[in-house]
Amino acid sequence: MLVSAKDMLNKARDGKYAVGQFNINNLEWTKAILLTAQELNSPVILGVSEGAGKYMCGFNTVVGMTKGMIETLKITVPVALHLDHGTFEGAKACINAGFSSIMFDGSHLPFEENFAKTTALVNTCDVLGLSLEAEVGAIGGEEDGVIGQGECADPDECKKIADLGVTMLAAGIGNIHGKYPANWPGLSFSTLEAIKAKVGDMPLVLHGGTGIPADQIKKAISLGVAKINVNTECQLAFQEATRKYIEEGKDLQGKGFDPRKLLAPGFDAIKATVKEKMELFGSVGKA
Ligand code: 13P
Repeated sequence: MLVSAKDMLNKARDGKYAVGQFNINNLEWTKAILLTAQELNSPVILGVSEGAGKYMCGFNTVVGMTKGMIETLKITVPVALHLDHGTFEGAKACINAGFSSIMFDGSHLPFEENFAKTTALVNTCDVLGLSLEAEVGAIGGEEDGVIGQGECADPDECKKIADLGVTMLAAGIGNIHGKYPANWPGLSFSTLEAIKAKVGDMPLVLHGGTGIPADQIKKAISLGVAKINVNTECQLAFQEATRKYIEEGKDLQGKGFDPRKLLAPGFDAIKATVKEKMELFGSVGKA
């Protein structure tokens, strides 16, 4: 069964740890993350960008695949299936397809439009028991063609959006999707503290979890971050493991090409990455 992320995030906020959101791209990714969460008895959020949803043959396919795996693999830890950086139209499509959690990213829109569209989704998600993430202050880097500037969010705007009754808030604090440049100044903890002071108990979301030093991750959690998103690190681990396997020539043993064997090292690499992150975020044993 898929669950809303609300309870897991409120517990994480109270217990001073964070739940990992790991983005999925295919069956292997999904299975690796679900099995790792179960082995570590950790709650987990599966993130699906609109691009990844399209790649996986649409949101209905993603819901069917995930629910089927939860049943067949006997996954009992809480799992939320979450739209990552959704448009307003994408949010509606995922609600209809049966996602248990939605992110509407209106951070690149004029604030009034972000406010109005988030308001509409708060009411719908509330009625359906879905969790809703909103964003203020675009996160830097590029994701599915959307490029943010790595802004620091305005704490007053954060309060206005939080007060609408969203479940969790992603606020830019100098974080960036993908790899961090060598001259990155680090997370802006003064911005995080100012936002926290305005939004009170609202669980905060840290995007761009790849490449943030462990001490900064821990400090962010201590200041109210209850969900951390990781995507690029799983991709890099998968790519490296697959490249090594091909270079070693193991798929060319005269029996033809076996995709299950080819994808196995990448699968193991994702499991190892997810385990490392769950240990760092402190969610192990918290299901
Ligand atoms: P990274 O790709 O930097 O890990 O960020 C993931 C993310 O924030 C997805 O929303």
